[in-house]
Amino acid sequence: MPHSTAFAEKYGPWAVVIGGSDGIGSAFAVELAHRGINSVLVARTESTLDQAAREIRSGNPGIEVRTVAVDLSSADGARAVISATQGLDVGTLVYNVGSEPNYGNFIDHDWEMLEGRLHRNLVSKARLVHHFAGLMAPRGRGALVLMGSIAGFGGSPGFALYASSKAFSHALGEGLWVELAQRGVDVITPVVGQTNTPTMVNAYGSVDGAAEPADIAREALDQVGNGPMWIEGKVRQLVADRIAMDPAQRATMIGERTARMASGNSMGVS
Ligand SMILES: NC(=O)c1ccc[n+]([C@@H]2O[C@H](COP(=O)([O-])OP(=O)(O)OC[C@H]3O[C@@H](n4cnc5c(N)ncnc54)[C@H](OP(=O)(O)O)[C@@H]3O)[C@@H](O)[C@H]2O)c1
Repeated sequence: MPHSTAFAEKYGPWAVVIGGSDGIGSAFAVELAHRGINSVLVARTESTLDQAAREIRSGNPGIEVRTVAVDLSSADGARAVISATQGLDVGTLVYNVGSEPNYGNFIDHDWEMLEGRLHRNLVSKARLVHHFAGLMAPRGRGALVLMGSIAGFGGSPGFALYASSKAFSHALGEGLWVELAQRGVDVITPVVGQTNTPTMVNAYGSVDGAAEPADIAREALDQVGNGPMWIEGKVRQLVADRIAMDPAQRATMIGERTARMASGNSMGVS
């Protein structure tokens, strides 16, 4: 059986890709299409969703792509995704969205912005994982891909809520990996460092040595059955160093790095 057929039988016929219109999310949808899986792309902007869908369809004859324009920062965003995907056999959920383009101290951000991030990165994620994993488990197959980050391995001055939402993703994925293994559902949390995506490049500029979305998507899907975590090669040593560090030193060091990144002077891939 060709590799892509076995993959599609286990993780298809449909994937839902949250934040699927650009960056790492659209790369996931392209890679899933190469492996024979149709996608529902979810993002806020209809025009970029339509463009991403057109590109995937034209490069992958026979693959279907649907789009759902919805804001996962809102309290009813997840419900809209659930109703738009009713009746589809969803074998993969990629909860990709999560990057933070707004650097700044926690108390200086508007509460409305922070509350939206809590919905987008935690509440909507938990709701959709609960819904789709609940459908996968009785079928005895499927996959959850919950994007993580090196930022989840320490407090991050300037990105405090973002970093804590990534730690949430890691811990959620790890716990569910055990719970769902008994039900035939694979769980993976890909941990990546700086990656050249529109969100990050527009906010902070491009970074030499940053990863490429297509590589992240391909390698993460190659590792989907080897959870609970896949750490991208460029950041493996940085993750080990952060785990080993004294928390006070770690937070100070990360604060210096994030300040450099926010000023467009990033020195590395973390
Ligand atoms: N890029 C990096 O350097 C990096 C580093 C470490 C970890 N990661 C992780 O990788 C993941 C993907 O990052 P990314 O840089 O590709 O960009 P991202 O900004 O997390 O995702 C962009 C996608 O999400 C959609 N989106 C943004 N806000 C949304 C909302 N409120 N509701 C629905 N859709 C929304 C965007 O389209 P619309 O704007 O049209 O909604 C687009 O499709 C994130 O979880 C991030 O934490 C990234």
